Amino acid sequence: MNKNIILHCQQLIKRYDQGGLNVDVLKGVDLEIRVGERVAIMGASGSGKSTLLHLLGGLEKATSGEVILEGVNINQVSGAKLAKLRNKSLGFIYQSHHLLGEFTVLENVAMPLLIAGETVKQARVRAIELLKRVGLGHRIEHKPGELSGGERQRAAVARALINKPSLILADEPTGNLDSKTADQVYQLMLELNQELQVSFLVVTHDHELAARMGKVLHMEDGLIVG
Ligand SMILES: Nc1ncnc2c1ncn2[C@@H]1O[C@H](COP(=O)(O)OP(=O)(O)OP(=O)(O)O)[C@@H](O)[C@H]1O
Ligand SMILES: [Mg+2]
Repeated sequence: MNKNIILHCQQLIKRYDQGGLNVDVLKGVDLEIRVGERVAIMGASGSGKSTLLHLLGGLEKATSGEVILEGVNINQVSGAKLAKLRNKSLGFIYQSHHLLGEFTVLENVAMPLLIAGETVKQARVRAIELLKRVGLGHRIEHKPGELSGGERQRAAVARALINKPSLILADEPTGNLDSKTADQVYQLMLELNQELQVSFLVVTHDHELAARMGKVLHMEDGLIVG
């Protein structure tokens, strides 16, 4: 195994039954993400970007093809083992923050660590440290509903990072933000990429933001075309 490669996939195919018709939404995707790399994925609506991220993150199974995450073929593990691998190696950020409304920002960010078996005290210390880093040190006891859109996405970035993952998968993480706020969240991701050597794979429709990543891939009709 090449230690520089965190995640790769080969000939990834995803077939859905759409009203009795079998449609290949991914038609054989090859991709590789290296340590510290920043990759943007662009492409028209429906080209398969979110589907690809779901497969790479082990949230859905491929129809065929392989996803290798830190040397492990994720199609060959399931249940608790897959959840553990995902929890250890990956962080996720979505277009909508997916924070739990009834918990504080601190509790939301600490939660993945608690699930991973860390003590409450340790989880709290690390969550506060990260919340300070993303500029939310003064908001830790607030509920997500009391934050601005940009603050919520920064909290989501902190939550994605708390398990010290090797790779963050982000699906239009700034899609709901105005361009200035989107820019700030990108800036934060770039800084964290440098500081923590965490890799990013980010789906975006924004050319300017994509250009700030190290590499831009284009998807068309279920394939990466360059
Ligand atoms: N569960 C499903 N069942 C059937 N078809 C699906 C399913 N999920 C996605 N698709 C289809 O797969 C194709 C790709 O969807 P996907 O969500 O990956 O696109 P996308 O590139 O992320 O688009 P967008 O930019 O709009 O988010 C679409 O045609 C969609 O209708
Ligand atoms: Mg999508």
